[in-house]
Amino acid sequence: MRSPALPETLTRAVIGAVLGSDIAARPAGDAIPKHLLAPHADRIMRLSERFTGDAAERLPRYLDEAGMDDSYALYYLPINAAKVATLLTIARAAGYLATGPLRVAELGCGPGGGLVGALTALDGTPLSLTGVDHSESALALAGRIISAAGGTFSSIRFNLESAVPDLRAPQDLIIIANTLNELWRGRDDTIEKRTRLVAGLAERHLAPGGVMLLLEPALIAPSRELIAVRDRLLAAGGWRILHPCTHHLPCPLAAQPDEWCHDLLSWETPAVVRQMDDIMGFNKHRLKFSSLVLTRGEPASPGDRWYVLTDPHEAKGMTDLTVCGAPGALRMILSRRSYSETNRPFRKLGKGDRFTLKLLHGPEKLYRLTPDDAVRVD
Ligand SMILES: C[S@@+](CC[C@H](N)C(=O)[O-])C[C@H]1O[C@@H](n2cnc3c(N)ncnc32)[C@H](O)[C@@H]1O
Repeated sequence: MRSPALPETLTRAVIGAVLGSDIAARPAGDAIPKHLLAPHADRIMRLSERFTGDAAERLPRYLDEAGMDDSYALYYLPINAAKVATLLTIARAAGYLATGPLRVAELGCGPGGGLVGALTALDGTPLSLTGVDHSESALALAGRIISAAGGTFSSIRFNLESAVPDLRAPQDLIIIANTLNELWRGRDDTIEKRTRLVAGLAERHLAPGGVMLLLEPALIAPSRELIAVRDRLLAAGGWRILHPCTHHLPCPLAAQPDEWCHDLLSWETPAVVRQMDDIMGFNKHRLKFSSLVLTRGEPASPGDRWYVLTDPHEAKGMTDLTVCGAPGALRMILSRRSYSETNRPFRKLGKGDRFTLKLLHGPEKLYRLTPDDAVRVD
């Protein structure tokens, strides 16, 4: 998968809101002076440690710490905007969010990563953006960034653990990005509470044909908790998954304690993220995330669609992939002696790709492609 490029106006809006308009106005090729980025890099390294720490431990209100919302915006906002923009492009390709004007709300918006993702993917469509968060300073920063980018923004300061927030009008798109995993951590009813929040938002505030976008870090705990929320929502019925699942059965990975699926994204890394990476020794050359893109409605028939769970393993003239489809998780192997024109696209598949293949024989635990198999990449 590849993310749509973040428009220059949006990255400049972020840089302007954090480092000032003079720095934002510099020619595109000019590096930002390192001493201006160093304090932000310092905070991001500390924050990154917290994000990858114990998933059952409550996080402090880190965006209220001095300068943290600015640092978060400079580094994580473009990264998360690119992930959201990619998922919205997938929803659009499936026929959703096709015509405007559209109302978009992001819960746990911080400085507005998901909303900037919407501005990127839905460029040309009039958008009315709402951000919900308990951090006043993050909401104010989101307002400055979105106004500088020419967007319309309103904010709701709200504690998401207290109730389903009143979004004031039916929303065509509700985004919860990197936030579900911060809610009700370490409780017996964590999954139930998160499921109730998502279901409550859909019932009360999602417009007909609207899309709910859930995105989480590609770490084991948030990803597996998202799978648990998925399975609970589906058990209650009335949901159609647009991405990543190709079927609406219980997730086959839920029963395997160390397994989860996540997407892998290539993108045009903005210069400011590359510069921050150089200082920190990080590498955001490719982006990982777990996600669930949903709409209300009857589940679509899985047909013969598959989602690639693993990067291909190439050995002894074989392409070996684990994929997910209606029969569950399945290993598929294409050996060199079975190569044909119709199965050729199988050799190009990578983690996170979706494809169509009608099985010509029972899969059991392993499906060996034959020259007669026809693979179509979605
Ligand atoms: C990791 S940030 C995600 C920001 C943005 N969605 C993104 O993906 O870049 C998580 C956000 O959730 C907010 N948050 C966490 N717990 C919350 C709560 N109980 N009520 C409201 N907001 C909360 C934090 O303030 C923070 O802005």
